[in-house]
Amino acid sequence: MVIGLLTLVSIPTVTGAALGVSEQRKANERKVDARRMAKFNIDIQSTGDTEEDEQVHGKRIVLRDNKVYLDDPQPSNRKIPSHTALAFYIDYPELDETKHLKRGLGLVTTISDDPPMLNWIYADKDTHELKYGNRSQSVEHVVGPWDWADEETTITLEEKHALVAVEEEDGSWAVYFDRSGDELEEVLEKQGKLDNAFAPIVFKRCMAEEP
Ligand SMILES: *[C@@H]1O[C@H](CO)[C@@H](O)[C@H](O)[C@H]1NC(C)=O
Repeated sequence: MVIGLLTLVSIPTVTGAALGVSEQRKANERKVDARRMAKFNIDIQSTGDTEEDEQVHGKRIVLRDNKVYLDDPQPSNRKIPSHTALAFYIDYPELDETKHLKRGLGLVTTISDDPPMLNWIYADKDTHELKYGNRSQSVEHVVGPWDWADEETTITLEEKHALVAVEEEDGSWAVYFDRSGDELEEVLEKQGKLDNAFAPIVFKRCMAEEP
């Protein structure tokens, strides 16, 4: 079997079709890149039917003060003005010191339209809050790999479905990454937020209209 595969992959080189094959591969890679760079809003699907689940379901990811929040998809319905995240995937530009981490795809988002500015969405390595920032602000944190699942409709981080909405003191819903699989018990206890309202959520890609 192994030999069979090796023979198969070596045929194009032997027959002189290598150029065609690599051209085809490049074209495929470009197609994948284009799909990865297609822009989307991030909408919230809840996974249960508690009161908290119902509150967060259908909300949209917004950005303010370096942190990721849930709010109404309609900007005019928001109590606190926030920027609506418009995101896409691109390889995270590692530093020489972090190259070995091979974190792969990062999640880029617009943070303002005028002037147009982009940042990375990442999970704080200590508090597990989702935040956004430029490379220097994000590189030491959990910047990826971000990916998609369920036929490209669901957003995953570190191959997990582990995002959780937590209600902050001011009544807004922030997002945390349950990296340790303990339902955030350890990180929320450290922040005195163990009793805060809490709802597991799924990030869904809502493709934006091309202008
Ligand atoms: C990254 O953001 C910080 C804080 O806003 C800023 O001080 C720094 O200059 C930025 N770095 C780059 C490379 O833009």
